[in-house]
Amino acid sequence: MDWGMKNRLSSIMGSDGKCMFMPIDHGYFLGPTNNLEKPGETIKPIIEYCDALFVTRGVLRAAINPDDSKPIILRVSGGTSVVGGDLANEGLTTSIKDAVRLNVSGVGLSVFIGSDYERQTLLNLGKLVDECEEYGIPVMAVTAVGKELEKRDARYLALCCRIAAEIGAKVVKTYWCEEFEKVTEGCPVPIVIAGGPKFDTELPVFEFVHDGMTKGAIGLNLGRNIWQHKHPVAMAKALHAIIHKGANPQEANDIFNDTKNG
Ligand code: 5RP
Repeated sequence: MDWGMKNRLSSIMGSDGKCMFMPIDHGYFLGPTNNLEKPGETIKPIIEYCDALFVTRGVLRAAINPDDSKPIILRVSGGTSVVGGDLANEGLTTSIKDAVRLNVSGVGLSVFIGSDYERQTLLNLGKLVDECEEYGIPVMAVTAVGKELEKRDARYLALCCRIAAEIGAKVVKTYWCEEFEKVTEGCPVPIVIAGGPKFDTELPVFEFVHDGMTKGAIGLNLGRNIWQHKHPVAMAKALHAIIHKGANPQEANDIFNDTKNG
């Protein structure tokens, strides 16, 4: 691996090799998502707990202060919306030249394996990796499942992660599932755990994140369960403790409650 690639990868991981990415990219297909109407305001109190932001170039330019930012993973796929056709029908939305101009530490795109757009999105990944290798920019593949939540089992997610790694992703973001070790063991590159719809209580979030970490994930890419929560700082602090301080779910819950109660 060349110096630039290594340097960019290490900039998005903590010094312990673990990472807490903060995704605020949802508007690229959802529009002004709850609590993300003003992304710059949303992240202000929680940004200190994250290692990198996952964001589109539009929000980056409009809402993130270049003088005081965490490393950036740029979302470079899209082209669909919740009111349009099939969300899996994505293409590449941003050039590598622009990613370089924005001084990003990585780029991310979604692949929709098992959908009608499997081939197209996997070829998007191959093309992106080819272009990014030239500049030493790591690619994070997002294994998207759309609305078909029943697909989120270890067999399916292991297949998605392995294929994304085979095509050249340097990091893969995927959902937590039962028997998560089957997903991490079959994937030769690091895996970060994606979030998904908001839970009603905190402990189940701490439990699945902790389970994923003990089964080989290197970190987290979790958005709505933090910034749509009534207590985003307490959530961010508790999850940070699981990722970087080895806290267990109960300890994370205590951190959550202590922070929430001031
Ligand atoms: C959506 C994404 C998000 O980065 C991902 O879904 C994580 O966010 P959340 O925890 O809110 O699901 O890829 O485009």
